[in-house]
Amino acid sequence: MSREFSIEAFQARLATRFVGRRLVYHASLPSTQDVARREAERDTPEGTTILADEQMAGRGRLGRGWVSPPGANLYFSVVLRPAAEHLRALGMIWPLAICRAVEDVTDLPARVKWPNDVLVGSRKLAGVLIDSEFGDSGGGYAIAGIGINVNFDVSPHEELRDTGTSISTELGREVAREEMLAAVLGHFEELYEAARRGEPVHDGWKARLDTLGRHVRVRFGDSVEEGVAEDAEPDGALILRRPDGSRVRIEAGEVTLREAEG
Ligand code: BTN
Repeated sequence: MSREFSIEAFQARLATRFVGRRLVYHASLPSTQDVARREAERDTPEGTTILADEQMAGRGRLGRGWVSPPGANLYFSVVLRPAAEHLRALGMIWPLAICRAVEDVTDLPARVKWPNDVLVGSRKLAGVLIDSEFGDSGGGYAIAGIGINVNFDVSPHEELRDTGTSISTELGREVAREEMLAAVLGHFEELYEAARRGEPVHDGWKARLDTLGRHVRVRFGDSVEEGVAEDAEPDGALILRRPDGSRVRIEAGEVTLREAEG
């Protein structure tokens, strides 16, 4: 069943100070990232959130697309103006906020696949794409683009059938997108403000990392490394123990489980 997103129901649930207080809703967009970028360039207040019911050209990490049909999921981009030293924290705060919101609203246990995919079981429920623009003078902005599969059957989508999931699939019933969005933004703001006060956010993220202790292959740029994911550093980098015993630090990439490949 597809239901229209109610801005009133969302606003009634939103308990933030500034994140999502300005919501710009579009029934259909190519990508919320582009509209958010234009807003950011125009000095829009921090926390401005662009939400689309459908995206015609939704973008994922590493040049991939993001399946974005109407009436089902959450696709939104939030304009942030962090100090440059908090930029990397965003990649940890968002997946942690999504995990906490999923657990608040549904009781489903949610974990993080390094660096910032949200999983239920071994399947991907949500993704985070952070674009940023920082000049030499230090001032700049980040656009955090979030896609969460909410009331959605992945099975007709070949690219998601084996690896993706949604809240309704896992729960066996639909949940209100308005409640989910308000919960994610609430947890995000709490964690973001903590990071800005200098509190560490890395521990909460690391405690949810499903990747640690696993035998993985990580692709980054044109390189591939294989080994055991041993640790995650405070800036979010992954530490891999290679088969020869040496350690390598990887800042960003795509993890696949070697166990899963057999
Ligand atoms: C990933 O590859 O895991 C990141 C997916 C990010 C998708 C979201 S949906 C809202 C925003 N607009 C986009 O085009 N992409 C992000």
